[in-house]
Amino acid sequence: MVLEEGGSSELLQAQAHLYNQLFSFINPMSLKCAVELGIPDVIHNHGEPMSLSDLVSAIHIPVSKTHQLHRLLRLLVHTGMFSLSVEKHRDGETDKMEEFYDLTPSSRLLVKDGTTECLSPFLLMMLDSSLINPWHFFSESLKKEGTASFELCHGLTPWEYASRCPEFNDNFNQAMSSDTQFLMSTLVAKCAHVFDGLNSLVDVGGGTGAAARALAEAFPNLEVTVLDLPHVVAHLPNDSGVYVTGGDMFQWIPQANAVFLKWILHDWSDDECIRILQKCREAIPSKEKGGKVIILEVVVNSNRGDHKFTEAQFFFDLMMCALVNGKERGEDEWKKLFENAGFSHYKITPILGLRSVIEVFP
Ligand SMILES: C[S@@+](CC[C@H](N)C(=O)[O-])C[C@H]1O[C@@H](n2cnc3c(N)ncnc32)[C@H](O)[C@@H]1O
Repeated sequence: MVLEEGGSSELLQAQAHLYNQLFSFINPMSLKCAVELGIPDVIHNHGEPMSLSDLVSAIHIPVSKTHQLHRLLRLLVHTGMFSLSVEKHRDGETDKMEEFYDLTPSSRLLVKDGTTECLSPFLLMMLDSSLINPWHFFSESLKKEGTASFELCHGLTPWEYASRCPEFNDNFNQAMSSDTQFLMSTLVAKCAHVFDGLNSLVDVGGGTGAAARALAEAFPNLEVTVLDLPHVVAHLPNDSGVYVTGGDMFQWIPQANAVFLKWILHDWSDDECIRILQKCREAIPSKEKGGKVIILEVVVNSNRGDHKFTEAQFFFDLMMCALVNGKERGEDEWKKLFENAGFSHYKITPILGLRSVIEVFP
């Protein structure tokens, strides 16, 4: 018999909500496990939904772990990362039901087939202990002036840490590159007009050049330069219309018709952003001569009312807060930054899902 009593059921709902929040870290950790086991690739290569027993042999885990894999997949099906179908088949005299697992549009983004956009490097970096451990320092960082949790945890800013730890540097750059490759195909397809009339562009904080290469390929007449810290660009070749410069954007930005900034300003405080934007302004020609800054960033609440997008924007905002003392900004905050850096007007095109294209004019 189930006893339903108003007060206690509310209390139990509250507990379920609390425990759901508390254990929601298990969602990304389970996904990480699936990627490490190669499950998205194995299902993709199989070409059709896969049974549990086929999965067990394809990912080379002991048969005794079949039940644990089943439980991992049950959660990942529940969260929409994989889909499940049940098929009846004849086993001797009896009918047997068998479960088959397939990719969903979300887990398809984790397939490393070299042709499609693959966000596995991004997922693995975001869930790496180097970026997860700083969260244990978040409350401590809120009690102190200045220092972000990453620095409290590792004793260095992420950029200093990357310059001293080649593995972190490589993984971080690959993670950024995977997100950028993903975004650039949409940008080039939907927003090519943003690059109309430009002869040269500098991708400031352009990492290992994923955006620059995509732009050089899409616009063969555009001369593209990547500026990033020396340890990031150290091994990049100067090739195929993409030039590479090691340097510090707070000191100097090469001259170009336009400056491109993807996921740079959200890493920094308002004062630091104004300094970066002022350097951008020095690097580009006047409004009359077509100078502009092209920014790819979150504009908080750009997807008004869409819970999924807004929640993801809030997650990114808090991550910027915890890792680098940066932030995601709403339109009012962007407007203020542009005015304070001496720009005359801007245009926001919310066309990239979580992020928008922001064109800023001198
Ligand atoms: C969040 S990552 C974005 C990378 C790239 N724009 C992308 O979205 O793929 C920030 C980049 O800024 C670079 N960076 C940090 N400080 C810098 C500085 N002072 N001058 C130039 N680049 C810098 C980092 O090395 C890193 O590549």
